[in-house]
Amino acid sequence: PVSRRPSLAARLLVHISVHWLPRALHEISLMTVKEHKSEKRTNADFFSSPEHPSKPHLANFEEYQKLYQESITNPTKFWGERARELLSWYRDFDTVSSGTLADGDVKWFVEGQLNASYNLVDRHAFKDPNRVAIIYEADEPQDGRNVTYGELLRQVCKAAWTLKQMGVRKGDTVAIYLPMIPEAVVAILACIRIGAVHSIVFAGFSADSLRDRVIDARSRVVITTDEGKRGGKLIGTKKIVDDALKQCPDVTSVLVFKRTGADVPMQEGRDVWWHEELKKWPSYIAPEVMNSEDPLFLLYTSGSTGKPKGVMHTTAGYLLGAALTGKHVFDIHDGDRYFCGGDVGWITGHTYVVYAPLLLGVSTVVFEGTPAYPNFSRYWEIIEKHKVTQFYVAPTALRLLKRAGDEHVKSGMRHLRVLGSVGEPIAAEVWKWYFEIVGKEEAHVVDTYWQTETGSNVITPLAGISPTKPGSASFPFFGIEPAIIDPVSGEECHGNDVEGVLAFKQPWPSMTRTVYGAHERYMDTYLNVYKGYYFTGDGAGRDHEGFYWIRGRVDDVVNVSGHRLSTAEIEAALIEHHAIAEAAVVGVTDELTGQAVNAFVAIKDGNEISDTLRKEFIMQVRKSIGPFAAPKAIHVVPDLPKTRSGKIMRRILRKILAGEEDQLGDISTLSDPSIVEKIIEVVHQEK
Ligand code: WT7
Repeated sequence: PVSRRPSLAARLLVHISVHWLPRALHEISLMTVKEHKSEKRTNADFFSSPEHPSKPHLANFEEYQKLYQESITNPTKFWGERARELLSWYRDFDTVSSGTLADGDVKWFVEGQLNASYNLVDRHAFKDPNRVAIIYEADEPQDGRNVTYGELLRQVCKAAWTLKQMGVRKGDTVAIYLPMIPEAVVAILACIRIGAVHSIVFAGFSADSLRDRVIDARSRVVITTDEGKRGGKLIGTKKIVDDALKQCPDVTSVLVFKRTGADVPMQEGRDVWWHEELKKWPSYIAPEVMNSEDPLFLLYTSGSTGKPKGVMHTTAGYLLGAALTGKHVFDIHDGDRYFCGGDVGWITGHTYVVYAPLLLGVSTVVFEGTPAYPNFSRYWEIIEKHKVTQFYVAPTALRLLKRAGDEHVKSGMRHLRVLGSVGEPIAAEVWKWYFEIVGKEEAHVVDTYWQTETGSNVITPLAGISPTKPGSASFPFFGIEPAIIDPVSGEECHGNDVEGVLAFKQPWPSMTRTVYGAHERYMDTYLNVYKGYYFTGDGAGRDHEGFYWIRGRVDDVVNVSGHRLSTAEIEAALIEHHAIAEAAVVGVTDELTGQAVNAFVAIKDGNEISDTLRKEFIMQVRKSIGPFAAPKAIHVVPDLPKTRSGKIMRRILRKILAGEEDQLGDISTLSDPSIVEKIIEVVHQEK
């Protein structure tokens, strides 16, 4: 067989990680010692109560194992059947899949034709127009309302007409900069109805970030609100859009939904009100017939280099991944009320606020607010009020709520069957708290591992079916064939009890097909690192029983509150400040946010460091990226530790912050080894 050695650059990249992997291992292994009582738990005793009338879609774990085997050895049969069962087609496909990871030309359901909005809305609206599609929980608890499938279809069609009138055609990209309101879902569905590609920009991103994404995606239409409301605070979305568009001459139209009624300037000939436009158009427009591989959406995500990548997903494969994980991971059944706390600006909100629940025709909660407003019971009140059956959130929110105290958690919530966790490792104590206090030892906890690029859950328990261990994402989903690779040799580690980096050995339907306008970058980031594999960028272990444990990123990506940030991007923002000569950003462990951003900066001669200047540095990051990327600490140092070739040794900075100065390793390769002492001194003085 051909040797699977990655390129030199890639090996160097992952090599860095080897230095910290053993430590991560040690930390995590503490969690695995205690076996949890839920591990032996099966569904039989649980699904007979009146609140839980339905049984999981599979009989037991053995059935999962059998189907999983089939999905790996006979993907054509497995996925062909599922695609025909879960999706509605205008034209059936002849070819289930074609192309390889090595060639980067993966395609699924090749000749098939379908429309995504038909699959999410029409087919349910025709059958049962009064079924609730969206449960809108506004920032103020009393302001919410429900939207039925029938009403949703009418709204989507009107919005689709409006976009068409603005000149949006099949294949065009539309930028969506909206808070968590039903109109965000309507906007998404309107785009995909007419074959336009949505590019949602999280409404916490700054004007500069929005501008970059609008330009990169060549969007000519932007959808936004006058303002947003979140946690009792107002967000000036329209103003941010106006700022961003100063440098986007190609944008011809801005569609503005009136959320708060704030007095915002409307640019003549460019800006129009949602409520004024939509009422002009009829309540039905036929969906555009799309090919399976037509682009569905772009979503920008951070990588190890400065510029965000426009991850592209295509239609049929992505939809199938969303529907099948919704069905099996979350055990979605007719009549369920599904609540994912993620924002539509991130992949979690795409797949699990919008696509999965609507594909399966259930009700989805669109929550505008925060878990702490008006108080720490907000999530639990929503769950109780709407009899939520599945709840899905990032551990960062759980850590906050656990710390706030158990008295905030409601006693009812009897309809909860599944509790999902996503975006970062969940510590065993938090997992147990979720299971015991929130789930009353009844609901199943699913720790779902996936990425923007994977489209849907890839390593995850199936609720009610898979055995679980707190802190482990357990087993691969259908069609996912994981490989643990030794980052130094590039060879796959076979058998159990192995540690390395995580890759997947065969294509799956919902994987990203390209990086928009940068296919070579797509190849280099995911498919050329270990030829023949999809490389996740995460470290992982497979324990003695075959459970997977995600260790975290091995590249320069930091995970703050489940938000993926690129250290390079933050550094690029910092050095835009006139006083900063050089910057190095690292992630440090943080009790609440998982990781926190710490920046080391060397300032230019002639500048005196002051609190004002420090604030300006933080403002610079808020302005360039967004408030959520702001460094938690800024360490002003005389110089950064660099090799003779000028590469910044972030590993040394991480060790110093972790208080591991005694484990710095060989620093003699630095161009100025004495700088290390000086940096240690700075960090100590701050403490
Ligand atoms: C990165 C992807 C797709 C979910 C939202 C984040 C980390 C994701 C888990 C988990 C440990 C996790 C990984 C991954 N991650 N889920 N269950 N346990 N780590 O999407 O912004 O694309 O980030 O989030 O490091 O690579 P994303």
